[in-house]
Amino acid sequence: MDIRFARPAETEEIAALWAEAFPGKRTIADRARMLETGGRYGGLETVLVARDADGRLAGACKIYRMTQHLAGAPLPMMGLAAVAVAPYARRRGLGATLCGAAVEEARARGDVLSTLYPFRPDYYERLGWGLAGSLLRYRFRLEHLPEYDEARHVHPARLPEDAEPIAACYQRVASRSNGAIARDRRIWAYRLAGEELGVRPIDDEAVLTGAGPGKDRIVVCDRDGVSGYAILRPTPGRTREAALHVRELVAETEESYRALIGHLAAQRDQWPLGLHYARPEERFEERLTDPRPPRFTASRSLYFPTATVVRGPMLRVLDVPAAVRARPLFPGSESRGYQLVLAVQDSQVPANEGPWRVIPAAHDGDSNVVEPAKGGATSPEARLQTDAATFARILAGELRASDAERLGRARVEGSARLLDSAFHANESFWLPDEF
Ligand SMILES: CC(C)(COP(=O)(O)OP(=O)(O)OC[C@H]1O[C@@H](n2cnc3c(N)ncnc32)[C@H](O)[C@@H]1OP(=O)(O)O)[C@@H](O)C(=O)NCCC(=O)NCCS
Repeated sequence: MDIRFARPAETEEIAALWAEAFPGKRTIADRARMLETGGRYGGLETVLVARDADGRLAGACKIYRMTQHLAGAPLPMMGLAAVAVAPYARRRGLGATLCGAAVEEARARGDVLSTLYPFRPDYYERLGWGLAGSLLRYRFRLEHLPEYDEARHVHPARLPEDAEPIAACYQRVASRSNGAIARDRRIWAYRLAGEELGVRPIDDEAVLTGAGPGKDRIVVCDRDGVSGYAILRPTPGRTREAALHVRELVAETEESYRALIGHLAAQRDQWPLGLHYARPEERFEERLTDPRPPRFTASRSLYFPTATVVRGPMLRVLDVPAAVRARPLFPGSESRGYQLVLAVQDSQVPANEGPWRVIPAAHDGDSNVVEPAKGGATSPEARLQTDAATFARILAGELRASDAERLGRARVEGSARLLDSAFHANESFWLPDEF
């Protein structure tokens, strides 16, 4: 099998492969046009193709290049998308081989992480990606939200003036976050056009200047500058069923969060119902006077439902020492004089395995020391041994080392508590972009 980057002459053929693998409204011509125009995260230059010995196109995938923040550390990340294998070539390991080639290519260009959205989690788990982050899907009545007074600072976004402040607000939040990516102008154009999935070409300029068609209502919280925004999509329905869907809500402060929530509450007469995918840290339920969804049925006997947990992103560490060097390790500076040893089973990327001796940085902003542990003199306070997928989840603060051990996914020697606190993350993994 010959795996390499795609050439312009292959555009139609790749588009046809994807149209078959991902059936939907998009035609082959739509897909070809997206490859040519570049789409949200990149076009043909991101595509890897696999050709068999007879020269037939057997598979393809996209490897986007992004910057992702892991516990606040910006790291180059490979977004893996559109992995597809032609039906005749399936169930012979080509999908896995393509993913392996994607990982190799990404490592060669210096990527430290990789994120994807799986068709089936266990498929990618075997290849080293682990589920990271969850959202809570709330259906609620807008009348159950508090009418925060701060809502007076919210007004409809004006384009083009507000495009840059909105992007800057997102970037400030993203750069402190655990999981969010940096967004360029292109990504913003798609987001503001309400085309998060990037399924059709758009005119960036028209969208960003406010001249293009937008499906959504964008509002900003502006008090001497934009400190929060929400992208809201009205979903039609008869008056009593009309709903406002919160596509994205980003707030830098509690005040701007309250402002945006209060703004939603004020729409109750127009849109009785709301839909919001909240981050766990929002404690959205605490804002609702009645946390039960509209028209619910009882759960268990006397319990009632609130939110549904939804999952999606999977994270892989492509370069273990680089990721551990960059990711802040806790606890605070007073008690940083400890050493850990990490051993990661990674049959796809043996260079990741270590074992690695880790000495957390003595000062905030410094990198941790990560070096091969062989022949070291000092004995570590804790040693963690696990597989690549579980390691990614521990590094993301998604799964504690002690829980991984209890679940039979890791072996811990020494202080599990120290490992738990070292890999603590201030917020849960959160990736609002889907690809
Ligand atoms: C998903 C997809 C890419 C998988 O491609 P593939 O080449 O068949 O994948 P693999 O061969 O690596 O793995 C598929 C299965 O075949 C098994 N397999 C691989 N080689 C094998 C072999 N030599 N003998 C028997 N089984 C084998 C794998 O273990 C895997 O089994 P599982 O069902 O237990 O997980 C392909 O089905 C596809 O294009 N689907 C439509 C698009 C899609 O959903 N893409 C995913 C986007 S995230």
